[in-house]
Amino acid sequence: MRILYSIQETREVVARTRAEGKTIGLVPTMGYFHEGHLSLMRQARLDNDLVVVSLFVNPIQFGRSEDLREYPRDLERDARTAEEVGVDIIFAPSVEEMYPDGYNTYVEVEKLTEGLCGASRPGHFRGVTTVVLKLFNIIQPDRAYFGRKDYQQLKVIQQMVKDLNVPVEIVPMPTVREPDGLAMSSRNEYLSPEERRAALVLSKSLAHAQALLDEGVTSGHELRQRVEEFIRREPLARIEYVAVVDPETLDCLAEVQDEAVLALAVRIGNTRLIDNAVLAR
Ligand code: PAJ
Repeated sequence: MRILYSIQETREVVARTRAEGKTIGLVPTMGYFHEGHLSLMRQARLDNDLVVVSLFVNPIQFGRSEDLREYPRDLERDARTAEEVGVDIIFAPSVEEMYPDGYNTYVEVEKLTEGLCGASRPGHFRGVTTVVLKLFNIIQPDRAYFGRKDYQQLKVIQQMVKDLNVPVEIVPMPTVREPDGLAMSSRNEYLSPEERRAALVLSKSLAHAQALLDEGVTSGHELRQRVEEFIRREPLARIEYVAVVDPETLDCLAEVQDEAVLALAVRIGNTRLIDNAVLAR
């Protein structure tokens, strides 16, 4: 496995691979790997001849008061685990390499980015789509892997790829959870033992919502209220949003027809966690 820091060198390596008629899979990440990241890499390994993992904590997707500086980093450990799952290249550019002085271009997907995390993190998705399109242009992968854990992000990237005719197949991957149900996240690292226990309220509230739907609660508004009540019973939790949305448009649903996505963002202490599930009637 090689770790490359320069865009130029990475372009040369992938160009040689492509000239040999080989396929390229890309897994974009911000590092501090857990099983969620590794599941994407394993799938990329199965599907492609060359597997590239990008590792870049993208400053332009963090708000001013967010955790850019504290975001956990450990390149050495990440390199070891990536090698174990058969990754060929880690592309780990510096901020200056990606955004040199005079950088001035941003990609913005409209509508899908307005609600949910887009409402509470202004500019976040503009940062995500900009860096992901740059990565697609640098690596030119045949396939790119994204987790459903970040459901809105997945939808926004699918929309960008469709609208801008980017020649890449987006492969959505299931959310990987801890044995007790907590969705894996690099930010789980911030939780104290007491907060770690409290964080279970997210996955439990998703199960609660499906149980309510099974009992015949199909009003989006009522589902949302009942889930909010459930989360409020956890004293360490502060709700940022709970939403029952259409799985494709992300519009809020008045009534669940056959499927809906329940998406939530909750602060446990100072740590912002997100989770979601498809609810089915
Ligand atoms: P990051 O949070 O490091 O996540 C990288 C990829 O791993 C994303 O596609 C994310 O959805 C996926 N992932 C994270 N936790 C997961 C879990 N528990 N199960 C399955 N997949 C999971 O998302 C980002 O980085 C950035 O926004 C990025 C796309 C790299 C752009 O900077």
